[in-house]
Amino acid sequence: MLAGKRILLIIGGGIAAFKALELIRRLREQGATVTPVLTGAAEQFVTPLSASALAARKVYRDLFDLTDEAEMGHIELSRDADLVVVAPATADLMAKMANGLANDLASTLLMATDKRVLIAPAMNVRMWLHPANQRNLAALEGDGILRVGPDEGDMACGEYGPGRMAEPLAIVEAVVDALGDGPLRGRHVLVTSGPTHEPIDPVRYIANRSSGAQGTAIARALAALGADVTFVTGPADVPPPAGVRVVPVRTAAEMLEAVQAALPAEAAIFAAAVADWRVASATTSKLKKDGSGKPPQIEFAENPDILATVAAMKTGRPTLVVGFAAETDDVRSNATAKRQRKGCDWIVANDVSPATGIMGGTENAVTLITGDGAEDWPRMSKDMVASRLAARLAEALGK
Ligand code: CTP
Repeated sequence: MLAGKRILLIIGGGIAAFKALELIRRLREQGATVTPVLTGAAEQFVTPLSASALAARKVYRDLFDLTDEAEMGHIELSRDADLVVVAPATADLMAKMANGLANDLASTLLMATDKRVLIAPAMNVRMWLHPANQRNLAALEGDGILRVGPDEGDMACGEYGPGRMAEPLAIVEAVVDALGDGPLRGRHVLVTSGPTHEPIDPVRYIANRSSGAQGTAIARALAALGADVTFVTGPADVPPPAGVRVVPVRTAAEMLEAVQAALPAEAAIFAAAVADWRVASATTSKLKKDGSGKPPQIEFAENPDILATVAAMKTGRPTLVVGFAAETDDVRSNATAKRQRKGCDWIVANDVSPATGIMGGTENAVTLITGDGAEDWPRMSKDMVASRLAARLAEALGK
């Protein structure tokens, strides 16, 4: 499954480092080449000799080893891989990654790489749950770092809870997914995201509160399943995920154009909060007060409905067209009607009343409306909603 794939395996200094040795063996069983890198602390738990013997390759250990630098610089080492795996990812390594520290070989490689990074955290349960670690985790997730585990269970330190490193076979599975050998491998999926900005004049515009968080999470989750993602995004607050084709746009009209240019796609998910109206009377010069005390008259024109346009395509329509419904009242019935009206296959409906804290927040509570009915999903993080939606999409598209 991993034939020809090159994995750079950074082994952190924790008791779980011994499982990294089995991980090397398991990755090689699948045909991968593994280049191990040991942190100074890792050497307290496993020897470079055992890592090197299992990998049948040289082990890299120290940033200032001049022979290594002459043979292969750290930049090359970090890029000469298809995926960087950090196992175990200790609290210390995660903190360094989250803050961009680069003071040893492992952290420098992690800063220098242009490849996707998968972490398998392992630490004491209190450390895992500590607000500082949770902050670092959130930062890493925002950076598009992939993660497997930790598992919950008895720990070497005698406590119980989340913090145990994922088992080597689960890490191998995550590696397979991360390398795009997932169920959506090579399949083109289009995602729209973020708000649109509709100009009033060269300095003013009409916008909405969409942060782009949900659309970004969906694009990331689809890419994690191997999809070839085109991400058409308005001016969002959150940065786009790694490993997708980003098409930045500003207005609804530009978004429609970018979407049409990106087709064909097997599936299209319209998570953008597109402005329904644009300013028909937009000016190329800044509006000035005219001294009369009367406010300017702004005329609106209806924007094209991108979702409805794509859903109505006679030829080349994506197999699965998914819309979002942002509602404040009667979520289920409004969204069911919206699915019919827009001609899409699924609607992901959410309640964006200010009291829910969903718009601009990190969580979402959605109802998935398909031809078979409505399904309420429990409130969960936008990342979880994205993973679940991506998995459903993969299932619906089939082989
Ligand atoms: N949408 C779109 N183009 C538009 C307006 C909306 O593609 N011009 C898409 C959104 O990306 C979303 C869905 O349509 O997937 C529903 O958006 P929403 O704002 O909830 O619905 P509206 O069509 O604006 O309906 P209403 O304002 O009447 O609720």
